[in-house]
Amino acid sequence: METTTLQPKTNGKQTAPHLTPEHIMQIGMGFWASKTLLAAIKFELFTILASSKLTGEEIKNKIGLHARSLYDFLDTLVALGFLQKEGLGETAEYCNTPETDFFLDKNKPPYIGGILEMGNDRLYKYWGDLEEALTTGEPQNEIKYAATAIENPFDELYKNPDKLRGFLNAMTGVQMGAFMSFAKQFDFSNYKTLTDAGGSIGALSTQVALNQPHMHCTTLDLPPVQPLAEEFISKHHLSGRIKAKSGDFFKEALPHSDVIVMGNILHDWDEKDKLYLMKQAYDALPEGGAFVCIESIIDNERSKNAFGLMMSLNMLIETKGGFDFTFNDFDEWAHQVGFTKTEWLPLAGPTSAAIAYK
Ligand SMILES: C[S@@+](CC[C@H](N)C(=O)[O-])C[C@H]1O[C@@H](n2cnc3c(N)ncnc32)[C@H](O)[C@@H]1O
Repeated sequence: METTTLQPKTNGKQTAPHLTPEHIMQIGMGFWASKTLLAAIKFELFTILASSKLTGEEIKNKIGLHARSLYDFLDTLVALGFLQKEGLGETAEYCNTPETDFFLDKNKPPYIGGILEMGNDRLYKYWGDLEEALTTGEPQNEIKYAATAIENPFDELYKNPDKLRGFLNAMTGVQMGAFMSFAKQFDFSNYKTLTDAGGSIGALSTQVALNQPHMHCTTLDLPPVQPLAEEFISKHHLSGRIKAKSGDFFKEALPHSDVIVMGNILHDWDEKDKLYLMKQAYDALPEGGAFVCIESIIDNERSKNAFGLMMSLNMLIETKGGFDFTFNDFDEWAHQVGFTKTEWLPLAGPTSAAIAYK
């Protein structure tokens, strides 16, 4: 009798060796793990546990949890590697791992929870409508629910000061590693001035000023962002070398500078607007000046940078025409606008700098 084995027929085609049923389940049901971690961040569990180990009962009382699934919640976090525990049952004590203590305690500077807070508060529910986005091509965030048409999606987000601060902190968390790497790696020796267009709270300018003492920076963003940028820059004692400026890069020319940076800006817009912004940068640069785009640039084969590709799906959820792109796309647009040479500088994780020289 012929035996049946649970193996897919490959018909001679190359298969992904890791694509086991376990892996398929792990990705498919990934929202279980995702939502458990996001809930812990929402409850500030890692911040609470940074000061002392606690029993389940103590955590329950501090956060206000119900008794029913208390230990399932905490032990899931242990099993996923986000918490450690000593002992068993009611006397067990829970504490952070060294990594969650470093990256997920709100009171420590390397905190990366901002993007995860936004993931929980906004994106989690908006991604629930991914199928609608894929079949209509329409965004699924605040734009969908607004009473009147929204010209710039940032205007809607920025009407609410908590959402504004949350969004800007989230952006900073995502990009900080890449900004640090760029500030150290890029050759600034021929340059004196830099403008970061859509610079949010000024994290990129701060890293450049800290690592390149001869550089003077301007961080430019929409008016509601300026006070938050000023606060961030003054916290780093860099107000003498970084100016926070209000402006709209679709309505005004960019300040003349030797280097113009746009971090996670081009992916927000459709191709026509991308080209417009690159031309704005070109016009503001001197000969030899550099335009630097810091994003999750997708590999040219569009088959490896899964984060960059999912970021592009996130642009579908969040914007009217935005999408992420490959270095080859950037190179083509840069030459269309008039730049003469381009370069690709890997930074941190999925993020790299696409650089165009005038
Ligand atoms: C996705 S965030 C990127 C922030 C930062 N560059 C980074 O890489 O983390 C986009 C930024 O562009 C700003 N922005 C959007 N429209 C703008 C406009 N018309 N003029 C100036 N800044 C704008 C937003 O306020 C926001 O700070």
